[in-house]
Amino acid sequence: MIYVSPSVLACDFSKLGEEVAGIERAGADMAHLDVMDGMFVTNISFGFPIIESLRKTSSIVFDVHLMIEAPERYVSRFADAGADIITFHYEAASDPAALLAKIRELGKKASISIKPATPAEVLYPLLPLCDMVLVMTVEPGYGGQALIPETLDKVKALREEITRRGLNVDIQVDGGIHAGNAKDAISAGANVLVAGSAVFRAEDRAAAIRALKEA
Ligand code: DX5
Ligand code: ZN
Repeated sequence: MIYVSPSVLACDFSKLGEEVAGIERAGADMAHLDVMDGMFVTNISFGFPIIESLRKTSSIVFDVHLMIEAPERYVSRFADAGADIITFHYEAASDPAALLAKIRELGKKASISIKPATPAEVLYPLLPLCDMVLVMTVEPGYGGQALIPETLDKVKALREEITRRGLNVDIQVDGGIHAGNAKDAISAGANVLVAGSAVFRAEDRAAAIRALKEA
């Protein structure tokens, strides 16, 4: 099963609630919410108040991608704000294993992400603690970039490792995903596709989501 998680970073923030309702009607499986702190990445996006308000308007799965320094300071607040899946960055956390365990204790799905330059192998010891891993296919920070093809080798390596050990871990890809390259990501082993521009900039968002799922 392939899941599509449109990134709201590419939506019209003046009508965020409607935009999320719209992608849910259009067949999205979840909404990808990119939190940026201006430290881990240069960009700043949004935080708790936005997620909390949005939670009141939507029951879609909130797939929260934390691009923040020291995420251990904030995961319980994101859980309270309404996150269903919480992804933090391997590069930003002081004790990734403890943080994954804490997210599960909070009753949420635990996920960890690696930037393009971080090798897949760092995640191997953590896999039993993960519900999902996120392989960034661009440098985190901005929507609308082109996918870095070499990152898909890491998806392949992770999928092989997960299968070899009989684990049940989703692999998400994020950055520059569109109908033209989704097939490559899926063949490499990804099953959760994040897409910002490819969904929100499309004339027909339902068709764009379908094209990703059927890639
Ligand atoms: C980038 C974010 C992505 C981004 C994806 O740092 O993590 O989720 O919004 O946007 P597109 O699909 O346009 O590359
Ligand atoms: Zn993201």
